[in-house]
Amino acid sequence: MTELILSLDVLDRKQAVSVAESCAPFIDAIKIGYPLVLSTGLSIVSDLADLALPLIADFKVADIPNTNRLICEAVFSAGFDAVIAHGFVGADAARTCVEVAHRHSGAAYIVAEMSHPGATEFFHGGVAERIAELAVTCRADGIIAPATRPERIARLREIVGSKAIYSPGVGAQGGDPDEVARLVDGIIVGRSIYEAENPGAEAERLSRIRR
Ligand code: C5P
Repeated sequence: MTELILSLDVLDRKQAVSVAESCAPFIDAIKIGYPLVLSTGLSIVSDLADLALPLIADFKVADIPNTNRLICEAVFSAGFDAVIAHGFVGADAARTCVEVAHRHSGAAYIVAEMSHPGATEFFHGGVAERIAELAVTCRADGIIAPATRPERIARLREIVGSKAIYSPGVGAQGGDPDEVARLVDGIIVGRSIYEAENPGAEAERLSRIRR
């Protein structure tokens, strides 16, 4: 069954915990990025620990191998279960993230292609395909691919095979959950859930349409 991952991009600790708690029965993981961590600090990880859901650090790590290693060590020491890293920095840098993740019994996902309109400025001409190949070579656990372009997901699936594809861009960015859920291992949803009048109810609705 396609997983539902909550992208918890709110700035307030209380709101974050309350949204996460109301959605918890209907989601498979929580993705936390810079907006929440820079607002609350890493202590938000322990605030969410009681929910017993995997926590994915969406820091889109994109530095030299040594700095990537330091960032990923801090991510897993803080209690995260997975990290998202960029692949365009090259195999050595991406592989470092994967190695640190696996040493901590965690997972690392590589961004193959972004979901916003401007992404096509640089992610074209086979770039995303090459990054997906890099993710396979580096033994990453999966890739991130855009729900806003299902045809691109299908193309990247040919490259990564049975590796996980997680896909943001559903809802607020225009991606259709029905269409995308058939193609991926998990849909990542932020604003459509946490900006809803009743986030838990919206998470439940999305959990029913996924396949
Ligand atoms: O609010 P919304 O559902 O658009 O949130 C999508 C989340 O996924 C955001 O945290 C965004 O940074 C992230 N993301 C994305 N596209 C990518 C990679 C990550 O939208 N390619």
